[in-house]
Amino acid sequence: MLASIERILITEEQIKEAVSRITKQLEEDYKDKKVLFVGLLKGSIAFMADIVKSYSLMCQIDFMDVSSYGSSTESSGTVNIIKDLSQSVEGKDVVIIEDIIDSGNTLSFIMQYLASKKANSVRICTLLNKPSRRKVDIAVDYIGYDIPDEFVVGYGLDYDEYYRNLPYVGVLKRSVYS
Ligand code: IMP
Ligand code: MG
Repeated sequence: MLASIERILITEEQIKEAVSRITKQLEEDYKDKKVLFVGLLKGSIAFMADIVKSYSLMCQIDFMDVSSYGSSTESSGTVNIIKDLSQSVEGKDVVIIEDIIDSGNTLSFIMQYLASKKANSVRICTLLNKPSRRKVDIAVDYIGYDIPDEFVVGYGLDYDEYYRNLPYVGVLKRSVYS
């Protein structure tokens, strides 16, 4: 384990369990539809890849990248689109794939954006959820794990663009960012 990781919060096994639990539910909910999975770059890459590999029905994938200005470990309410979708979402059934929901600012912006682009339906799927940190009320349909208010990295999640490659989710030592 890297010296900057305090402890492992979600193991590789737990991630696998969440992926298969969520995929089963998605396959049930979208069995008569063709879902468009929209991954939010870059944090969702690992989760997105695992979800789509285990999803066995007809689906499409796309990506968006948005930035939310703020301090290094907290997002602000202002969200900008850095990379837009490469296809129209009009009439489509969209499932947003996110790594973690913290304040809810990012997802609340994206929900409004996809509604304005006339998606037929939009649901949210996240590996991690920090309910105690929520500032904007959003409905999250698929959740891997609720976690406490700690800054975590790995499995796509970064600090200063590092640690995304770790196969587990770990708590970053405070001394790294404070
Ligand atoms: P929100 O807009 O506050 O919900 O923040 C969502 C985004 O902040 C996530 O997509 C992550 O990129 C980032 N974020 C929030 N909490 C963490 C964390 O504990 N580790 C790494 N990134 C995080
Ligand atoms: Mg993110």
